[in-house]
This record gives sequence, C-alpha cells and structure tokens, in this order.
Amino acid sequence: MTHASAPGKIILFGEHAVVYGQPALAVPINQVHTDADVSDSDRAGIWVNAPDIRLHAELSGLALDDALAATISMVCSALNIDFARRASSAEAISSLSDETASQKDARRVIPDGIEIKVTSSIPLASGLGSGAAVSVAIIRALSAHLGQPFTDEQVNEIAYEVEKIHHGTPSGIDNTVVTYGKPIFFIKEQPIELLHVAKPFTIIIGDTGIPAPTKESVRDVRKLWEQDKRRMETLFGVAGALAKTARQAIEGGHPERLGALMNENQRVLTEIGVSSPELDRLVEASRKAGASGAKLSGGGRGGNMIALSTKENAEKVVDALYIAGAKNVIVTEVT
Ligand code: MEV
Repeated sequence: MTHASAPGKIILFGEHAVVYGQPALAVPINQVHTDADVSDSDRAGIWVNAPDIRLHAELSGLALDDALAATISMVCSALNIDFARRASSAEAISSLSDETASQKDARRVIPDGIEIKVTSSIPLASGLGSGAAVSVAIIRALSAHLGQPFTDEQVNEIAYEVEKIHHGTPSGIDNTVVTYGKPIFFIKEQPIELLHVAKPFTIIIGDTGIPAPTKESVRDVRKLWEQDKRRMETLFGVAGALAKTARQAIEGGHPERLGALMNENQRVLTEIGVSSPELDRLVEASRKAGASGAKLSGGGRGGNMIALSTKENAEKVVDALYIAGAKNVIVTEVT
C-alpha cells in the first residue's frame, strides 16, 4: 500500500483579488488533512473508495468531468500508463492521441486492479482547500504506487488542472500552498515564493458550518468585475497592497501589525460581496473577545473565518466563537 497526506490551508490575505493578478498570502493547516491510500486489488480496474462522500465506484462509472476521475486520468496519462478505457480530460486525450507507436508500446499496463481510498478531515466547501488537498494526496500516492513518485512541481501542475474543474478560473494559490506545505507569497502564474515567518503568530479559525462552493463566489465576483471593472480592480488593488504590507510585517518580525490589515481586508471582501451574516457574526465576536483583527478566509459566503490573537488570549477568542455559533474552531501557530 502507498500512502500520501496533504494539509488544509487558509488564505491570510488577498483571496479573490489573487484571481485578478494581485498578490496573496496563504499558509498550510496541518490539523486537518486528506489521506490517500493506494493498494493493489484483485478486482480489475481502478476503484475509488471515498467513504466521506459515500463513493465507491470503478473509474468508468464516474462522470467524465468528475474531479477525482480527472485527477486519476491525468496521473495515468502523465505516466504513460495504459488507460485505454477512458480519458476524462482534454489534456489526457490530446496527450494520448499525440503518442507515437513506440510510446504506445512503452506504456505500462496497470496491475489487474488498484483501489484508491480517500479520507479527509477537511470540511468540504469551507475555504480550507479540501479540493486541492484531495488532488494532491491522490496524485502523490498514485504516482508513487505506480513506481514514479512525482516531484512537487509535477504534483502542483496536475493539481492546478484539477482546480480548474473545481473552480473554473482558479488563481492556483490553493494547490500551490497545499502541495508545498509551507507559507507562501503568491502571484498567479509567477514562480512560487516562500514566506519567511520571522516570529510565529497565532491564528484562530472559526467555521460557520455553512458550505459555500468557491466556484460560485468566484463566478459572482467575476460578474461584478464584468459590470464595473474600474471599481472592482481598485478594490483588488487595495487587497494586493495589504498582502504586500502583511508580507513585510511577517518577514520583519511584526505579526502584531497583521490585525489592522486583516480588518481592512475584511472591509474590502465585504464590499466585493463575499462576506455573509454568519461570517460577520464570527468576525465581530472574535474582535470583541480581544482578537486584534479578523476576516473571512477563502471563497467566503460561508466556510471559515480567521482571527489574529495573542497566545494568551486565544482561549477567550475560541469560547467567543463557539458562543457566536461556530461549528468548529481550530487554533494554529503560523511558523
Ligand atoms: C480560494 O481559496 C481563493 C480564491 O481566491 C480563489 C482562487 O484563488 O482560486 C477565492
């Protein structure tokens, strides 16, 4: 059996604006993760077993645009593994049809059957990167099981293709932070830059418990952008500037400066229409309990918010979040 794990993530600054080329900051969250186990099976075919979503099916039984099926297809295609029965992505189809006869011969045949078991403690559609973590864990475990473990760069590339199925027009920040498992400063389509955390700081993550698919909020923000590009790009620019200032604070050893920046970022996110009454309630409750700043994190409309707190005050913020209706709270140290 071959095992791989991938963490969840939070966006510290710059969600949505990052889709339009602005910088953003994200960090992995190791308290939640997705695990993939790949093993040989007596049953022919590729079996996907994802008990969390009550899925147990052979690959050919999954929809062509299913993200799990696409992930597996792309891994097999990149490895030139014989996978003639189906190819569920355009890339897989074109790379197969471009093959020469000798490449076809070189393609290896999958063992009689394999089973891919996927389990996750990352809530779905909550802004914590569950989609990216599922892709990354499967890509790593499957490529390793088939004898050719991918590099981080290869993993990230395929996970980005899968994100396009999840999100439509993703920036690539989720798959990148989940693949590399380190704090990052991210600009779309630019080389990844790691964030150097000079002084650790405490972030408290509160879950509204309301699932909100990122695809929908990204689509709605795009509609607003199409209606009024100048206004939206001004707001994205403010978020981008906040991300740059936040990077300086983090790398300069002044994380206490992040609170005010988070509050400002939340104001921008509210203006672009991605907060919600439940998120606002948790943001407000954490501030009242002593958090120096708070904002939604990820796609918004539901899902999770984050708050900056001193270590000493963290418990007070956690209690306040639960009282205000949070369904789950995670305390994490960004290092
Ligand atoms: C989702 O975690 C972050 C968004 O900016 C979407 C993206 O960057 O692809 C909302």
